[in-house]
Amino acid sequence: MIQYPDRLSLAQLPTPVTRLDRFPLGRDDVTLWVKRDELTGTEVSGNKIRKLEFTIAEALNQGCTTLITCGGVQSNHCRSTAILGARLGLKVHLILRGQAADKPEGNLLLDYLSGAEISYLPPGEWASHRQVAEQLVRDYAQSGAKALFIPTGASDEIGLWGYVAASEELADDFKTLNMVPDYVVTATGSGGTQAGLIVGMHILRLPTQVLAFNVCDDAAYFDAKIRRMCRCGSSDTVWK
Ligand SMILES: Cc1ncc(COP(=O)(O)O)c(C=O)c1O
Repeated sequence: MIQYPDRLSLAQLPTPVTRLDRFPLGRDDVTLWVKRDELTGTEVSGNKIRKLEFTIAEALNQGCTTLITCGGVQSNHCRSTAILGARLGLKVHLILRGQAADKPEGNLLLDYLSGAEISYLPPGEWASHRQVAEQLVRDYAQSGAKALFIPTGASDEIGLWGYVAASEELADDFKTLNMVPDYVVTATGSGGTQAGLIVGMHILRLPTQVLAFNVCDDAAYFDAKIRRMCRCGSSDTVWK
């Protein structure tokens, strides 16, 4: 049994797994399945909510009433945090990379509609976003509110548990479908999804390898970040 940290039940789980019979791969020795994580919940859908189930549980355990997080102006993670905060009665303060829009659209509109407070940081000053967040935590503390700073994508050693749990869900899927896939393939944007899958596959002793495609930065950046998150140092056993 995996010993999980505390977790809130926020996502619609388990998500189904669908075989893509007509996906043009150009070869017939590969079968493609998709884990339908877009079905985790309409307004909070995707992979973000799995990580936030653990992150927000940690915030509540620490007695926090405010969540501070950061990302691009159209960040899905920020929108999920804003909506979950509204649902749970927590204040949410977003630090967004960019400028205020005359007419907010998309995720930014949803951020405002959910009542999140928003601070903008120009792209040229983004390197200081952590210091800005830490200053906000101190400002909230002075006004008597405890705030938790959630790093980009909730990708840290707490959030990654969301994809350790997803790995357990996948292991059940594999059993039901009577298969052991060679690869689980994911995008990697802030690293928590990939890190959680790596740890999950390792804990569950599954031979399935995690193959990730970075959507920003480069492989060396994620290699270092994910090793840090997993605290797996030079252990090739975990890393593979
Ligand atoms: C569908 C999907 N999968 C995976 C990822 C990567 O998630 P993470 O930010 O945990 O690396 C993202 C976001 O970048 C995403 O939208």
